[in-house]
Amino acid sequence: MKSGQKWDNGVKKKISNCHCDDGITVRPFHIKDYDAVLALWRRAEGVGLNESDTRPAIATYLRRNPRFSFVAEKDGRLVGAVLCGHDGRRGYLHHLAVARRHRQQGIGRQLVHACLAKLRQAGIQKCNIFIFADNAAGMKFWAHTGWKLRTELQVMQFRLEDERKTRNDCPC
Ligand SMILES: CC(C)(COP(=O)(O)OP(=O)(O)OC[C@H]1O[C@@H](n2cnc3c(N)ncnc32)[C@H](O)[C@@H]1OP(=O)(O)O)[C@@H](O)C(=O)NCCC(=O)NCCS
Repeated sequence: MKSGQKWDNGVKKKISNCHCDDGITVRPFHIKDYDAVLALWRRAEGVGLNESDTRPAIATYLRRNPRFSFVAEKDGRLVGAVLCGHDGRRGYLHHLAVARRHRQQGIGRQLVHACLAKLRQAGIQKCNIFIFADNAAGMKFWAHTGWKLRTELQVMQFRLEDERKTRNDCPC
């Protein structure tokens, strides 16, 4: 890690561009990274891609949550990525992925720490993730890094694009 950077509960205070001694750079995710990140996500088991992952949709997400999402690079190659944002109440991480040959080197942990530091700066106190129930390896990573499974909760979803169920007239 560069001199001048300090650790605070495992979170680097300087999070905009972190060059670590292991040659990994963690920096904000820009839309110009989209092609490389999409290729990484496509190769990552446990990452489900859908209509929210098109270039325009990701560009919108990054604009709405500026500098909350991060990529990791090694030797100029993109080796990890995560999306992060918040709604003013809870933080959310999506699509954390590290290239297979670069796993178990602390990159996933660094990406998550960068996001959590940004959420803390924004006054957010809790962060949620969604994980496929069959992603046992992913679950082990989250549990090992301090995340708690909320067994009393389940996710429900309503699809707003389904016009048969949705009225288009907005009351305001
Ligand atoms: C989950 C993932 C991002 C972890 O990335 P990573 O860079 O290998 O993780 P790290 O090296 O930072 O691991 C941090 C700690 O978790 C542990 N860990 C990581 N993966 C683990 C696993 N599958 N089982 C048990 N422990 C694991 C590491 O040993 C390390 O422990 P330590 O700090 O005590 O040494 C990576 O495996 C991945 O891309 N998986 C596929 C995509 C995916 O499932 N993403 C999650 C979607 S919800």
